[in-house]
Amino acid sequence: MEKCDFGLIGLAVMGQNLVLNMNDNGFKVAVYNRTVTKVDEFITGNAKGTEIVGTHTIEELVGVLKSPRRIMLLVKAGAPVDDFIELLLPYLEEGDIIIDGGNSNYNDTIRRTSYVESKGLLYIGTGVSGGEEGARFGPSIMPGGSPEAWSHVKDIFQAVSAKVDDDVPCCDWVGKDGAGHYVKMTHNGIEYGDMQLICEAYDLMKNILGMNNQEMHETFTEWNDGKLDSYLIEITRDILGYQDEDGEYVIDKILDTAGQKGTGKWTAISSLDMGIPLTLITEAVLSRFLSALKADRVEASKVLSGSAYTFDGDKMAFVKDIHDALYASKIISYTQGYMLMRSAAAEYNWDLNYGGIALMWRGGCIIRSAFLGKIKEAFDKDGELNNLLLDDYFKSEVDTAQSGWRRVIATAVEAGIPVPAMSSALAFYDGYRRERLPANLLQAQRDYFGAHTYERTDKPRGEFFHTNWTGTGGDVTSSTYNA
Ligand code: 6PG
Repeated sequence: MEKCDFGLIGLAVMGQNLVLNMNDNGFKVAVYNRTVTKVDEFITGNAKGTEIVGTHTIEELVGVLKSPRRIMLLVKAGAPVDDFIELLLPYLEEGDIIIDGGNSNYNDTIRRTSYVESKGLLYIGTGVSGGEEGARFGPSIMPGGSPEAWSHVKDIFQAVSAKVDDDVPCCDWVGKDGAGHYVKMTHNGIEYGDMQLICEAYDLMKNILGMNNQEMHETFTEWNDGKLDSYLIEITRDILGYQDEDGEYVIDKILDTAGQKGTGKWTAISSLDMGIPLTLITEAVLSRFLSALKADRVEASKVLSGSAYTFDGDKMAFVKDIHDALYASKIISYTQGYMLMRSAAAEYNWDLNYGGIALMWRGGCIIRSAFLGKIKEAFDKDGELNNLLLDDYFKSEVDTAQSGWRRVIATAVEAGIPVPAMSSALAFYDGYRRERLPANLLQAQRDYFGAHTYERTDKPRGEFFHTNWTGTGGDVTSSTYNA
């Protein structure tokens, strides 16, 4: 038998679809699954009539592959990845490549890259985004790990990935060790932010303007033809229009408690570690936590009062304001996401290509949108762009949207509708554009109670001063360091 180009372990829905996609693109793939009956079910079911080869042991899988062997794990993140690496190692040879295509934590990927490399093999940790359909017809693929591995997987990864503008693949090398999984994690964080912003827009339309599902469906249909054109707006349009057999809207029957698998939380944790004010994504994670306190909220709703506000303005004008609030907040979210990646690149010594990342996210993945094309353009204009908000296009877009954005936040506060993502985005914007913040007072407070010292506006940076505020404190200062 002619040897296979690629091996895949893990035949859940993503694995099956990715293998079928590879087969469509002319690659011969061998598959294995821990519960081996799944292999036969797949081969006689969805894979029937294809070139896909089923194997029933790790040894058999390794034996049918061309060298260097390329084996992808699409198994649950965490211990199963380590388990499979251990199962594979005895059968692999120098130069073979183990690929983790799950949503693994980047810290694990950094550790695994160095471990697998220490055994003379190569390792790739790659983000794969786009859900079931993406895997089947073209996901966004974000690989990182051992740089020498890239030339061995480039053809197959780029062939099966989504394409944008004249066949440009939404897949390129991201960077060494955990870079690919870090960028995928940030993608997921941004996904959380985009979803929360859409939910806030929905809440404002429904509970301030009293719009019904059909009206909101029509609004999202319109928005999807404009600057907000994106996969998540498109599916929201469809969700709001979806009725069951009884002609009832399914959206109204869904319990309001959000689940999560952890990638948004990891993004927020990383931002705290890096000291980056990733406010919007963090608020999106916290909003999922608040939504999950359903029983508490039900109790609280019986006793806590809100506002008696009723909207009496121009409904259509306010819908436009909501659009602008969502759009401006989205610009802030991506700005913050890019700030985080820039900081992680410095921390972990990754040479990230920011325009390239926008291109990888432009198609195939959950946050795919026309907007990402604009981000790509911003980085094409200036590869060293320090902050997206300072790009001429985004600067003027926020400028145009900000009056509507401010009206939405003011109205939401008056009406008692929580808009944590939109309002924290505005607070970030208003803080970021301020030359002087009230942190002078904060430094004074720290120095007052703990002799933590402060820098002065009239002295060079890096010189620290202490004031004996009460006249009774001494001259001893605490050491100066920043967490
Ligand atoms: C993707 C998605 C996917 C993620 C789901 C669920 O890029 O295809 O990001 O990787 O697992 O969106 O995430 P939560 O369960 O955390 O919402």
